Amino acid sequence: MIKRSVVLGCGSYLPQRLVTNAELANRIDTSDEWIVQRTGIRQRHIAADGEFTSHLAINAARAALRSADIDPQSIELIVLATSTPDNTFPATAVAVQNGLGITHGAAFDLQAVCSGFVFALATADNFLRTGAYKRALVIGAETFSRILDWNDRGTCVLFGDGAGALVLEAQDLPGTSADRGVLTTHLRSDGRHKSKLYVDGGPSSTQTVGHLRMEGREVFKHAVGMITDVIVDAFNATSLTAEDINWFVPHQANKRIIDASAHKLHIAPEKVVLTVDRHGNTSAASIPLALDVAVKDGRIKKGDLVLLEAMGGGFTWGSALVRW
Ligand code: UT7
Repeated sequence: MIKRSVVLGCGSYLPQRLVTNAELANRIDTSDEWIVQRTGIRQRHIAADGEFTSHLAINAARAALRSADIDPQSIELIVLATSTPDNTFPATAVAVQNGLGITHGAAFDLQAVCSGFVFALATADNFLRTGAYKRALVIGAETFSRILDWNDRGTCVLFGDGAGALVLEAQDLPGTSADRGVLTTHLRSDGRHKSKLYVDGGPSSTQTVGHLRMEGREVFKHAVGMITDVIVDAFNATSLTAEDINWFVPHQANKRIIDASAHKLHIAPEKVVLTVDRHGNTSAASIPLALDVAVKDGRIKKGDLVLLEAMGGGFTWGSALVRW
């Protein structure tokens, strides 16, 4: 028997305010047609004034705890992936911990931009598999609307706000690929690409929060290759194949990147969970938001094999295979 991190529940939260492409086209030089054609995005949710990343995260965490049907006090570890924390410090994860009324265990943030959720999942999985903790909350939560340059049409149309969360529990299982739980995770980074997608501010450099800057075409150029490489690593580590996958839940940055990755990996289009049209790119929140949509609408069921991947600023990229 080995320890596996098994998903007990998931939840998500989106701010109420919906911003359509048409509304953006009223404010900047863009069009619904351009945004849909180049990205697949039709709308995004934007946090209200005074609504912080921690608020979105707490709502998502509460929903995940409800779906897991467990006592929040049994959570010993909270790993929160975000690039848009409430404050430079302390970690937004401790605000979530406090919001849930938990005073024991550990809570910390993790920063790997759009790959943050896969990095956080891998981190929590490692703590659970060593027996350090029994139950964990893994959260991706973002308010990217706060770091966008709303005059830069090349970036501001792409992103949205939201949060998603999973509850994981360490369970002793046989150790085969038929086990439920996180079967394998693969993380990569290459800082040579850091100027292609970054925020032009920070406490140590400018003492400001800064705005997101991206060479979109450059990111696009690298995305499919990096995503497919790290998914092949996951297949090789488990002897599973694209045929075995029930659901492909990629980071939701651009429909064209998702379609090209699925095509290259021979993953059938009907297995792809797509939410970029409704949520835009919510960075670290996009995967758990998409998971929650597909669980709630009955697509992802217990025992299904789910492939996750993400790629983003750094560059960072990663994959995970999870049997639900
Ligand atoms: O989540 C982290 C990872 N991030 C990503 O994966 C993003 C990766 N990149 C992309 O998704 C795409 O590169 C974009 C969607 C950002 C851009 O699509 P593209 O097909 O690469 O367009 P482009 O940047 O090459 O721009 C094409 C044209 C340009 O005009 P010219 O120079 O051809 O006259 C842009 O100025 O489209 C113009 N453009 C726009 N037009 C209308 C750029 N943004 C807009 C806009 N509305 N919002």
